[in-house]
Amino acid sequence: MEKVLVTSALPYANGPIHLGHLSGAYLPADIYVRYKRLNGDDIIYVCGSDEHGVPITISADKEKVKPNVIIDRYHESNKNAFTKFGMSFDIYSRTSLPVHHETAKEFFTSFHKNNLLVEKKTLQFYDSTANMFLPDRYVEGTCPKCGYEEARSDECEKCGSLYEPNELINPKSKINGSTPELKETSHWYFPLGNYQEFLEKYIDEMNQKYGWKDNVLQYCKGWFKDGLKDRAVTRDLDWGIKVPLEGADGKVIYVWFEAVLGYISATKKLFEERGNPELWKDYWQNEKTKYVAFIGKDNIVFHTIIFPAMLKAWNDNNESKFIFPQNVPANEFLNFEGKKFSKSRGWGIDVAEFLNLFPPDPLRYTLASNLPENKDTDFYWKEFQAKNNNELADILGNFINRTFIFVSKHFDNSVPERKNLSEMDKAMVELIESYPAKISNLLENYKVKDAVLEMMNLGRSANKYFNDSEPWKSIKSNKEECGTTLNICLQAIYTLAEMFSPVIPFSTEKVFKMLNATQTDWLNSGKNNLPAGHKLGTSEILFTKIEDEEIQKQIDKLPAVIEEEKDEEITYEDFLKTKLKIAKIISAEKIKKSDKLLRLQVEVGKTKKQIIAGIAKSYQPEELLNKKVVVVNNLKPAKLFGELSEGMILAVEDASGKLNVLSVDENVKSGTEVR
Ligand code: MF3
Ligand code: ZN
Repeated sequence: MEKVLVTSALPYANGPIHLGHLSGAYLPADIYVRYKRLNGDDIIYVCGSDEHGVPITISADKEKVKPNVIIDRYHESNKNAFTKFGMSFDIYSRTSLPVHHETAKEFFTSFHKNNLLVEKKTLQFYDSTANMFLPDRYVEGTCPKCGYEEARSDECEKCGSLYEPNELINPKSKINGSTPELKETSHWYFPLGNYQEFLEKYIDEMNQKYGWKDNVLQYCKGWFKDGLKDRAVTRDLDWGIKVPLEGADGKVIYVWFEAVLGYISATKKLFEERGNPELWKDYWQNEKTKYVAFIGKDNIVFHTIIFPAMLKAWNDNNESKFIFPQNVPANEFLNFEGKKFSKSRGWGIDVAEFLNLFPPDPLRYTLASNLPENKDTDFYWKEFQAKNNNELADILGNFINRTFIFVSKHFDNSVPERKNLSEMDKAMVELIESYPAKISNLLENYKVKDAVLEMMNLGRSANKYFNDSEPWKSIKSNKEECGTTLNICLQAIYTLAEMFSPVIPFSTEKVFKMLNATQTDWLNSGKNNLPAGHKLGTSEILFTKIEDEEIQKQIDKLPAVIEEEKDEEITYEDFLKTKLKIAKIISAEKIKKSDKLLRLQVEVGKTKKQIIAGIAKSYQPEELLNKKVVVVNNLKPAKLFGELSEGMILAVEDASGKLNVLSVDENVKSGTEVR
């Protein structure tokens, strides 16, 4: 039996949870935890709302309400959405609780008392109209490392680097778009650099022993290569945990520096509620505890570098010693129908909305069998329908259903006896028995997606076994043989229900009711758990098929055009490189073997050239004669269909799909430059 502590990233209470969040840090953790509980491990699973920091204040400003209104609203609604989705947290806490503020202050004070924190004067963006410092996400600009244009003042979402605000290129205030000035302020810095050696060793050792994911290791390596630097751990903001020092008015602890401690404070709260307020230490300060932190890839640095460094700093200066994450199985992102989730662009669907339309289990199964464990993946409505109809209903549901119908009709709804097993029966029994260990092995290594795919394979094998055994024949020729088949099928259902219970818990609960049985330990669930003569309950349909129309309705709701990504900026000099000139078309003809291309001879001033243009579907050659059009005159010549093309004609597509060449009045001379 293992002692295990599991956390999922604390979501900001400033907006609804969407499917992408579920796939990143929540569903895989829940599946792991549910499995571990059945495996008899001593496990707690904590999570909660992250309620401080600029994300909250920005949402509050937008709505012109106090941050409290925002966090109360989203803490409640996210908690409810998680419950409906079947998340089995032991506690869903919040960082606005007193126990959290105390915990964070205790860490900060300890670091300060032990002279770890250095006070430094720095330049910070300041909005002189609003009379406030602009931290983090109040400022946007170009990343000094990778050039991403929507980088935050101290962190780039694209390349993951952290930097100081004065390094940001072309900063803009998010409040009013103005260019903020830099003004001096002072902040406390945590000496992250002092922990690099420790952290490199720690991660290396954990990886050796427990096998960390490649994406996580690569990410950390990048950080170490750049060298860890001191990090400011306070901010000028009035929403957050006040810096517990004299003369620090108007300053709060940086949200990331306290949010990670939310895992600890949530555990304190859990055991306080359970009437055993000291027991949290039995997890956090017990070397025997295995701590696993589930997160999405954007949170890696905070969980593999900053949080461990904080714990190490505490341990070096206090009697009590915290444990470190043994593994951080970070996932990549889930996209939606080929594009990034974007609330402002109306792209995607949030969990509450989804669960108003469809039950949780088909969603859990669809997401789980397509987790972004090694690369970004997508949610597609059509795939959701296919997973539900072709796998849950047609494979799993159908197998369970036909077995129950058969047993109720021919065996008085009780488990028949198992006798004289054929080779095929024995093979099936063996397969069933092998399953718990097989799935366990995958889940212990955080291969949740593979585990789920394997589970459905057992469903496939069971269906095949039913078909190959032909019980509808043996019921007439040899009832004892038929009974054996159905006995094994029922046992398969029991095992399937146990294996699937971490993934589709609402449905498997029904299956255990149908079996009139209770769940047993994971590893015993492949054995013969249903004695002959055991009376079954009443069966019901587990999964209903989703019609095409229902799915089409959801697809139709998506915005047809979503606001384009911002075009890459070029300089005036860049633009001047493209020589746009007026050309007169002097001949035009179709090209054999191509229904798209026309061969044009044009005059650009005194120069004659040939241009192959893809406009044959929109123009008859004669229509083009003598037209004055715009061409890219200095495009490198290229061959199209074996024909030389020495330029390009500009055209736009209209709503009907017809191309319109851009043309000018007759009196504009050919060869004139377009500027
Ligand atoms: N709120 C952060 C986010 O949504 C995650 C915080 S995780 C914690 O990205 F460790 F800091 F709690
Ligand atoms: Zn960057």
